[in-house]
Amino acid sequence: MDLFINQSVHNLKKVQNKMNIKIAIIGLGYVGLPLARLFSTKYSVIGFDINQKRIDELNSGVDTTLEVSEEDLQKVILANNSGEIGLFCSNKIEDIASCNYYIVTVPTPVDKNNRPDLTPLYKASETVGKVLKKGDIVVYESTVYPGVTEDECIPVLEKISGLKFNIDFFAGYSPERINPGDKEHTVEKILKVTSGSTPEIGKKVDELYRSVITAGTHLAPTIKVAEAAKVIENSQRDINIAFVNELAKIFNLLEIDTQAVLEAAGTKWNFLPFKPGLVGGHCIGVDPYYLAQKAQEKGYHPEIILAGRRLNDSMGEYVAGQVVKMMIKKNIKVNGAKILMLGIAFKENCPDVRNTKVVDVVKALKDFETDVTIYDPWANPLEVKHEYGIETVSSLPNNTFDAIVLAVAHKEFKDLDFSKLKNQNAIVFDVKGVLKDLADAKL
Ligand SMILES: NC(=O)c1ccc[n+]([C@@H]2O[C@H](COP(=O)([O-])OP(=O)(O)OC[C@H]3O[C@@H](n4cnc5c(N)ncnc54)[C@H](O)[C@@H]3O)[C@@H](O)[C@H]2O)c1
Repeated sequence: MDLFINQSVHNLKKVQNKMNIKIAIIGLGYVGLPLARLFSTKYSVIGFDINQKRIDELNSGVDTTLEVSEEDLQKVILANNSGEIGLFCSNKIEDIASCNYYIVTVPTPVDKNNRPDLTPLYKASETVGKVLKKGDIVVYESTVYPGVTEDECIPVLEKISGLKFNIDFFAGYSPERINPGDKEHTVEKILKVTSGSTPEIGKKVDELYRSVITAGTHLAPTIKVAEAAKVIENSQRDINIAFVNELAKIFNLLEIDTQAVLEAAGTKWNFLPFKPGLVGGHCIGVDPYYLAQKAQEKGYHPEIILAGRRLNDSMGEYVAGQVVKMMIKKNIKVNGAKILMLGIAFKENCPDVRNTKVVDVVKALKDFETDVTIYDPWANPLEVKHEYGIETVSSLPNNTFDAIVLAVAHKEFKDLDFSKLKNQNAIVFDVKGVLKDLADAKL
């Protein structure tokens, strides 16, 4: 009986302890929303975003990024209405004033010269600074170069709040590793790197994440180590993809099938399975510039990192050149040719079009005076129009084409009846290498 009572008291303490934790997630995009939903299954969470439309949609249970299902989102929104855990989304600063953990998940883009643009991070830090109280912990999740949290964001928090770092308030950094559209590796299933501004805070931050991340956590010794770890994960991928893109260019000149070469080489236990392609999105194609900028600031000019970026950024134009070359070889008139582009999203099975490199292919093909129709069943045509000023369609066109370019491996494209889309003699160019025998050429 005593044991039962003790156990109950212990459980109650655990519950009360959890109830004392109130988390604000600042920025409810691809990273912030899944994290807010996950935390809200155990804690009271306020999701904060400056985008009113996004807030209204989320509070009604709709996530247009398709990262969180309507059912899962509605569950936590409803829980918030009826209890002490759950999610409530708001764009009002007063709604986050009573939180004691602030987790910042705002974008970290580059400007037109590929230099890091920290404006959203500064702005989010100003917001948090206005409500920061003694004892609060601010954790940054946005991908940055080492030093951004402590050298760029903390001074803003100190200035706006009037509080002292590591005396009145504390910080942490925990990079996100999710992959948009990936329903297998969801946030709770990916081991999470954590860190804190003091060893004790590191443990506290780690404990908070460990309470919801089923895959576990890795507590890094410092915030800068955690920041550096994230940025090199994506830089490593970028460089490896650049290498296979270079191989594709070489093997195309040698008239050897790149996919077949990679398949053969891949039979060795330590050959890394990277594939050639367009490197878009706001992570792999952007993060290396963050690391490069910091290195340059310190007087080191990164060679491999920037060479990788240059090569990957050139692939859109290269693909267009290859398509046109094939058309000419098959006697297809290029000027005025009707070309169907399959996909505009930056990656398969997701509606995210930010920094998609398919637009480079489209632009280069249009420069050859071709007539390009872009079909993407996932992307929102209004968003594409707003971002790039180009038209797209969400349903498969009824007409036929002189060339078809599969640019994104959306699942819908694998079962298309290409014979209904091709003019006689038309070519099919498979950038992603997923069509097997249906394609006339691959990257
Ligand atoms: N998308 C990914 O797969 C992914 C994966 C790992 C890491 N990251 C990193 O996570 C960060 C966030 O990326 P994302 O893809 O979620 O971005 P996103 O553009 O999808 O979402 C960002 C959200 O932040 C909001 N926002 C912008 N400024 C704000 C401010 N001052 N206050 C409150 N809200 C604000 C925007 O309205 C938007 O809803 C970036 O640093 C990114 O590099 C992204």
